[in-house]
Parts: sequence; structure tokens; C-alpha cells
Amino acid sequence: MLELKKVSRWFGGLPALEDVSFRLETGRITALIGPNGAGKSTLINCISGVDQADQGRIRLDGRAIESLPAHTIAGLGISRTFQNLKLFSRLSVLDNVLAGLTVTAERSFLLSMLRLPRLRHQERKLRLLGLEALDDFGLADKVDWPAAALSYGEKKRVEMARAFVSAPHLVLLDEPVAGLNNEETAHVARHIRQQRNAGHTMLLVEHDMDLVMDVADQVVVLDSGRCIASGTPAAVRSNPLVLEAYLGRMEATA
Ligand SMILES: Nc1ncnc2c1ncn2[C@@H]1O[C@H](COP(=O)(O)OP(=O)(O)OP(=O)(O)O)[C@@H](O)[C@H]1O
Ligand SMILES: [Mg+2]
Repeated sequence: MLELKKVSRWFGGLPALEDVSFRLETGRITALIGPNGAGKSTLINCISGVDQADQGRIRLDGRAIESLPAHTIAGLGISRTFQNLKLFSRLSVLDNVLAGLTVTAERSFLLSMLRLPRLRHQERKLRLLGLEALDDFGLADKVDWPAAALSYGEKKRVEMARAFVSAPHLVLLDEPVAGLNNEETAHVARHIRQQRNAGHTMLLVEHDMDLVMDVADQVVVLDSGRCIASGTPAAVRSNPLVLEAYLGRMEATA
């Protein structure tokens, strides 16, 4: 469903991504792993239109999307979470999730301009979708809380509820369990599996290898902006190039 062909991105002459090519399969979880600075978030930014690749092609169901702005890409059904949380801290948890439905809401705004009586019904429907998404992520009892009052783990789950609320074709998750304790991580892993069982396609950026090995159908490994391996979790785990990329990093930071 999503195909990347030779995607490159440079910052100040240095490559953050170099000729990255792979495909995501519908209904599957693809994990994107690699050491710090490998280019994982840059790739998510390029797919979601927050940033733009300098070279290469990104196709969604055959349509080139690499030059489209972020709101258009969101409208085509690609949603995401951010490595550094992006929530509206003073808004309620529910309103933060409803922000994930702005594309639909714009349509309902049009309906109101046309004075169609469906508006109230539409609004109720959107609210219901938001409540369902929050329930899916174990936050049904916090819908009216200001986002700022939640724990870090709960905030991560609000971002996920916002990413899934619009029933997107593809969800890009940038480190959904970073900074979470074991219990919270298990909680999020359960939600990710539930969403996969519901048919969602995901690109999961994550350093937590237990989570990756547990939920991923396919793993793609980036190192210094290059794709150095891809395959099943078991194959990637025993790939010498992958081991070297990670062990090399440990030596460098020792
Ligand atoms: N806006 C930017 N301007 C300049 N350099 C950038 C920018 N964004 C990313 N980079 C650089 O590109 C490289 C890849 O960064 P990126 O954030 O994509 O890595 P990452 O794989 O997500 O790392 P991490 O695991 O630490 O989140 C890094 O060297 C980073 O410093
Ligand atoms: Mg990152």
C-alpha cells in the first residue's frame, strides 16, 4: 500500500536518509529500527508531509505523495504520532482526540454552510468516535481531563487514540513506548495488537526490541540513513550487519 523508492533527505549537506526503499503491506505491522540518528523520525516526517524528501518517490496505493502538504496526506488517510508529544495541554483529552478528525470536521463545516440539518448529527457522531477511540486506549474515565493533567504514559495513549480515531489507512508510530515503564509498555503493546487485529496497517518506529519482536510482521533496519536490512523479526535479529550497527553504537557510547 505504501511504497518508498530511493528516498533521500539531506540536512546541511549531510545525509539523514540515503536511497531508502521498502514497501508496507496492508494489515501488517512494519517495524522501523536503527540506532539514534539513523533517520527513522526523518522518514516518518517525509511520509507524513511534515518534511519533504529531497529525492525519491513515496506512493500510497500507486499515487505519488512525496510533494503533498501534511494536511493533504492526512486527508488521504495517513496519520501519525510524534516522538516528542504534541498535545494541546489546555484542551480536554477528548478535544485532543477530536483534533484527529479535522479533515472530517471541515466537511461538516461545509454542511453547516449549506445549512444542511445533518450538522448536529455529524457532531454527535464525531464525539462518539472520539469516545470510542479513547475507550480503545483505556482512557474512557479521563475524557474530560485537561491533557496537561495526565501522566506521560496516558499522554502517549491520547496521541495514539488521536492517530487511530479517523480510521486511517496507515498509522505511523514514532516510539510509542519510549519513557514508559514495563506495565505501561505492556498496555500499549496490547493496544497495538488490537489495532492490528482490527485490520490497521502500521509503521512502528521503536527501540524496544521486545515490543518489535512481539508485534512486527516485518522489520526494516536503518543505519546512518541507509536501509541495511529488512525481513522477518527472526531473520533481522540474527543479521550480522544489524548486530554490528547496534554493537558499534554501544562501543561508541562506552
Ligand atoms: N531538522 C533537522 N535539521 C538538521 N538535522 C536534522 C534535522 N532533523 C534530523 N536531523 C539529523 O538527521 C539525522 C537523523 O535524525 P532522526 O531524528 O531522523 O533520527 P532517528 O533515527 O529518529 O533517531 P532517534 O532514535 O534518536 O529518534 C540526525 O543526524 C539528525 O541530527
Ligand atoms: Mg527519532
